[in-house]
Amino acid sequence: MALIEWRDEFNTGDAGVDHEHRELVDLINELHGKLGKAGATRDEVEEFLGEINVQISTHFALEERVMRNASYPDYQAHKDNHEELLDDIRDIMISYDAGAYETFEATLTQHLNSWFTTHFSTFDAKLHAALPHAHHDA
Ligand SMILES: [Fe+2]
Ligand SMILES: [Fe+2]
Repeated sequence: MALIEWRDEFNTGDAGVDHEHRELVDLINELHGKLGKAGATRDEVEEFLGEINVQISTHFALEERVMRNASYPDYQAHKDNHEELLDDIRDIMISYDAGAYETFEATLTQHLNSWFTTHFSTFDAKLHAALPHAHHDA
């Protein structure tokens, strides 16, 4: 079973953002699946973490640019939460690198799951409800 099942409350109303969020969820589920089979090498796990870090950083940078362009009033709080999430993922990468393999999966699962279920449905939902959408698939 996937670590993160997509839920209606994750939808922000912005098709582009929802698409990126789904890509992040898919990537995290893929890593989780690999870990679950116990077949992933340390190199593979590290590569995956690196990829997740890059995709999340890129996504956050885009969102922050959208907020600045719109003079979004809650920019700072939202950006602060992004920074916390990035710090967390870097801590996880460092502790994995330092040999915390046994506790790794539990920590990762817990963190990634709570980030997405809370950040998407709070900060991101609020942001995209507040912004006019220049292009929208719906
Ligand atoms: Fe966000
Ligand atoms: Fe987001």
